[in-house]
Order: sequence, then C-alpha cells, then structure tokens
Amino acid sequence: MKVIVAPDPDEIAVHAADLVQSFLDSSPEPVLGLATGASVQPLYRELVRRHREQSLSFASSRAFLLDEYVGLDPDHPQLYRNVIRADLAGYVGIDPARLHSPDVHTADLDEECARYDRRVSRARIGLQILGIGRNGHLAFNEPGSGFDSRTRVVRLTAGTRADNSRFFERPEKVPETAVTQGLGTILQADHLLVIASGAAKTIAVEGVLVGPVTDTMPASILRTHPRVTMIVDPEAAAAWHRTAQRP
Ligand code: GLP
Repeated sequence: MKVIVAPDPDEIAVHAADLVQSFLDSSPEPVLGLATGASVQPLYRELVRRHREQSLSFASSRAFLLDEYVGLDPDHPQLYRNVIRADLAGYVGIDPARLHSPDVHTADLDEECARYDRRVSRARIGLQILGIGRNGHLAFNEPGSGFDSRTRVVRLTAGTRADNSRFFERPEKVPETAVTQGLGTILQADHLLVIASGAAKTIAVEGVLVGPVTDTMPASILRTHPRVTMIVDPEAAAAWHRTAQRP
C-alpha cells in the first residue's frame, strides 16, 4: 500500500485530484467509483475547479456510487445520489444516465442489490474513491461484515448514525438502513484511493496500516489488495506514527 501524508485536507485533495486526473487522462472510457462524505468533499471541489479552469474532462466517464441510504425521499438532499450531483457530478458534466446508484425506491430491494452488484462487477471500476468510517467501516460495511460480502441492505450502527447526524437537521432523521456495495464488491476495483483526515480517523488509519486483518476493522482488508493509495493528514496518521516509532 502506498501511503501519502499531506499537511491538510486541501493538500490531500491536490494529491488525490492528481491521481484522478491521470486516471481520467489515461483511460478511454474511465469507470470511477465515488464515495460521499466530508473526507472527499475537498477532492470534489478540486476536481470541479480543474474541470472549470483546466478543462479536466469527465465526458467519457461512467461513475458508480458506493452506497445509498434507504428511507429518504427521492429529492432529499442527503440521498447520496443527490449529494454526489451537488458535490461533483452536476458540475463536471457526468451525464446522469452514466451516474449509477442503487435504486432504493424500488419494491424489491434485495433484487435491486443483486442487480447493482452485477452491474458494478461487469463495469469493472478502474479507480475507486473511498473514505473511511471512525470504526473502520468502508462504504456502509460495518464491523462484522464479511470480507467477501456483496451489495446488500445493512443496518447502520448507532455510532455511524451519530457521526452522520451532522448532515441531517436532527439525529433521529438519519436512516437506520442503507444499501452498500459489499467488501468483496469494492475490492474488485483496479485501484483504491482512500482519503482520511482528522483525529477522529486515527484509530481506523492505524488499524488499516498496522493492525491485524480482521472483520472488526473492515477497512483492514485493504492490506490484501494489490493497489491501494491512502492519503492522510498528520492528525489521522498520528496513532500509526506512534505505533511505528515504538521500539
Ligand atoms: C460514511 C459513508 C462512507 C464514508 C464514511 C466516512 O458513513 N457511508 O462512504 O466514506 O462514512 O465519512 P466522512 O468522510 O464524512 O467522515
């Protein structure tokens, strides 16, 4: 795994955007995997800036979302499909027909999960952008998720709902369930780009980089993937650095 420590979230965004840009420039039909959340917002702002000022083109790309809340209205601003449009897709010219997400408003959710998983697998994601939860979750794969898990409906932990309540008007408005790509689905991507910033992520980052590969820390499975780039700030890297310096 390649680890880059950048001084702050804006510098993380520059490194990450360089990687996204070279991926887009080198692929005739790029397939991107997109995460939502605070960690990736500076990256998306930087990509929008490069699109506007430097003609970075997403014209031939397709994009797949990692996860989606269940139970929000189709026009709810926190539905991840709407979040990604507002943060990135709506500004960089990703055709809505080429922006894929699980349809959580369909009658048969289990069938939709299976369909979405097949779609992601067939598309073969070239570059998957990922954040990481405070408890080491990837997408909405909470501790205990199988390393070979597939796209499915999951129940969110109280901690994840509390962490994500900052995006909602009241904590009880955070959905209790979501659809998430499984860990096995995510690991099919050719290259995984993981972003983490702030002290809240330091235990998760340490777990990924030096802890045991265990399902109590879902993101630890990243260590088994052949191509992972992790970009973190000094606060997120602190626990890892302390462990690495121990005699
Ligand atoms: C959320 C999302 C993840 C995201 C992670 C970190 O619950 N489902 O896809 O990467 O947790 O979020 P944030 O970047 O806001 O800390």
